[in-house]
Amino acid sequence: MKIVLASHNQGKMREMRSILASYGVELVLQSELGVNIEVEETGSTFRENALLKAHAVAKATGMPAIADDSGLMVDALNGAPGVYTARYGGEGLTDEERYRLLLSALVGQTNRAAHFYSCIACVFPTGETLTAQGVCDGTIAFAPIGDDGFGYDPIFFVPSLRKTFAQMTDEEKNAVSHRAKAMAAFRNEFEKYCREKNINVNK
Ligand code: IMP
Repeated sequence: MKIVLASHNQGKMREMRSILASYGVELVLQSELGVNIEVEETGSTFRENALLKAHAVAKATGMPAIADDSGLMVDALNGAPGVYTARYGGEGLTDEERYRLLLSALVGQTNRAAHFYSCIACVFPTGETLTAQGVCDGTIAFAPIGDDGFGYDPIFFVPSLRKTFAQMTDEEKNAVSHRAKAMAAFRNEFEKYCREKNINVNK
C-alpha cells in the first residue's frame, strides 16, 4: 500500500520510511506528488495537529495520508515549547538558532528533564482515522553534541544510551525515539484496521 506523508521534513521522512517499509508500506512525500499545501497547525494538542495535517493531504491526494506532530516538553519550562516546538522563537529561525534559544532559556537550570512526544495520525480516503502516540524521556544537554539528525537532536540526551539523538545511528534512534514508539503503536492499529477491512498491505 502507498501512503503519502503529510510533511516536507526529510528527517521525518527518512525515519518513517524505513519503519513503514518493514511492514510493506511504501511512503511517498506529498511534494513527490506535487502537493505543496502547508497546513496551519492551529490545534491545541499534538493529536489535533497531526489529524489536521493528515486530513488535508488525504483530501488533496485521494490517498491514505499519514502525519506526525511532535514536540519537546521541558519540565523546567512547564512543558514548553510543546505544540509550539517548531515555531519556538518565532518564524524564520534555523534549527540551530532554535535549540540555542532553548539552551539559553535553561542557563543556570539544574532540572534538565525533557520529553519528546509524537502523535501519528493516518487518514484514509473514506475519512476513517487512526492515531497513535509515543514518548521518549531524556534531558536537555548543556551544549550541543553530535552532527546527525535534525531539529533539536544535538541537545536531546537519552540517558539509557548516553548519547544525544544527534550522536545516534538511525537504528539507535529508531530503537528509542518518540516517533519510533508512536510508529510501533501505530503499526498495531494499522494491522488491526487492515485485517478488519480485508486490505492487503502489499498491494
Ligand atoms: P512538527 O513538524 O510540527 O511536528 O514540528 C516538530 C518540531 O519538533 C520541529 O521543530 C522538529 O524539528 C522538532 N522535532 C520533532 N521530532 C524531532 C526529533 O526526532 N529530533 C529533533 N527535533 C525533533
